[in-house]
Formats: sequence, C-alpha cells, structure tokens
Amino acid sequence: MDRYVVIGNPVSHSLSPAIHSRFAAQTHEDLDYGALLAPLDDFAGAARRFFDEGGAGANVTLPFKIAALGFAQHASDRARSAGAANFLVRKAGRIEADNTDGAGLVRDLAINMGFEIGGARILLLGAGGAARGVIAPLLAKSPGRLVIANRTVERAHELAARFRSLGPIEAVSLDSIPDAKFDLVLNATSTSTRGQALPLQPAVFASGALAYDMAYGAATRNFLARARGHGMRTSDGLGMLVEQAAESFELWRGKRPETAVVLAELRTRIT
Ligand code: ATR
Repeated sequence: MDRYVVIGNPVSHSLSPAIHSRFAAQTHEDLDYGALLAPLDDFAGAARRFFDEGGAGANVTLPFKIAALGFAQHASDRARSAGAANFLVRKAGRIEADNTDGAGLVRDLAINMGFEIGGARILLLGAGGAARGVIAPLLAKSPGRLVIANRTVERAHELAARFRSLGPIEAVSLDSIPDAKFDLVLNATSTSTRGQALPLQPAVFASGALAYDMAYGAATRNFLARARGHGMRTSDGLGMLVEQAAESFELWRGKRPETAVVLAELRTRIT
C-alpha cells in the first residue's frame, strides 16, 4: 500500500490525515496517510528516512516548508516562486517538490466562495512565507490591484519587486495602507496563529467586501469578528486547507477528489 505523511513540528493537530483518508475512501484509492513529527533541526533526516523506507509522497507543514524545497532534487515553478514547498513526491528515483497552497487559496476563493479575483482590488496583509506563496497564483487571475502591507515595509517591497513582472503589485507599511476600497482583505500574517492582535486602521474594513484569514478555526476569531463588525463577508482558511490537499491528492493519484463534502464535515468539527 502506498504510504504518505504530513511532516511538521508540531504535527499532531494536523487535519491532513483526516482529509486524505476521506479523499482515499471517496476515490477508492488504497493508500495510507499518517503524520510524521520531524525534529526541528533535522527535517532532511526525517524526510530521507521516510522516502528510503518506501514512502510515496509527503505534505510539509510549519516550520519545514523552506527546508522541503531545499531537500528536493527538482522543484516546480510555483514552488520556486513561493520559495517553499508543501508537497513532495518520489518520481523516477528522485524527490520532486511543488507548492499547492496558492492553488488551494485561489480555488477556495473562486469556487467555494464565488469570489471573482479578476479585476478585484486585493489587500494582502503580511510579507512572510504564507504571503509569498499566494502572490503568483493570485496575480495569474488578473486582479485589478494587489497591495502588500507589512509591518516591516522592506519585506513588502522585496516581494513587490520580485513579482512585479506578473501584475499590478504595490508595497506599503501596515500603518500607511491607502485609504481606498478593497474587495478582498487577506490576512497572511502569523498574528492569528500566534494569538496576537493585528493593528489596522478601520478604513481597511469595507462593508460588502470579503475578509479572509489564511489560518483556520478559533485562531481567526479576532480578525474576522472585527471585519464582520464592519459589515464584511468573512472566511477562515479551512477551505484553502482542503483545496491544497485536493490538489496534492490529484498530483499523487491522478484523481480529483470532491472537496465540498469533506469541507462541510470538517466545518462541523472546527468552529
Ligand atoms: P509565515 O511563514 O507564517 O508567513 P513569517 O515568515 O514569520 O511566517 O511571517 C510572518 C508575517 O506576519 C510577517 O509578515 C510579519 O511581519 P514582519 O515581516 O514585520 O515581521 C507578520 N507579523 C507577525 N507578527 C505581527 C504583528 N504582531 N503585527 C503585524 N504583523 C505581524
């Protein structure tokens, strides 16, 4: 039976084994998907052992997504542009890396939320790994404007410079966000998962627009409650998680699982 794992530290909280088991049952694929705790200082050792022992593929979560890219012998364009990988596969004797996070976000927005990215004015909060991974997939859908706002403005400028050839991208500091209406405010900072408040001027929250937190569950409550208070539509990143998993599953198994039913079931467990 083909073996897959999600590698992280910590990893016991990961929903990936539950998601992939449901995908496997649904598509009648005979596979085993577990969780692998790697030591913080030895991702490569843990990953190498897994593949040496016959592992077929892995998802990679925090804090190893950058290490995963370096571990692979080959990387897709989207993994290289994200500077990180959440997907590994053994193919023809070598390990290949990919990044399905951005595709997962775009699919959750476009399909599950019915949000039209084409022409949209997007405010992306954060300029770390999570933000970097979604910029190219968002720009590929031709938004009208993509403003990256970050506490450390230099990091936002670096990202804007890196992706400038792909679309209309700007960089600002978190405390000087332009006083303009955004259709989508995307929280890609680590404040939710760290339980920290994100200082934002009220003008950022525009009634009728969509606020999306790339984290999921209770951690997103502060940011999303504030957005709701301003009349915004809101979503956490549970759909992104399920969609990146579906993208991974299809790359490994050649079959596209049905995500809506899995997302609905997880939603009853995650509030
Ligand atoms: P990740 O891989 O989760 O994106 P990261 O690379 O450490 O993690 O990036 C964290 C992001 O959250 C950064 O944009 C960070 O801003 P800085 O670049 O200024 O550090 C942002 N962030 C973290 N804590 C924050 C806070 N308290 N207020 C505002 N932004 C914060």
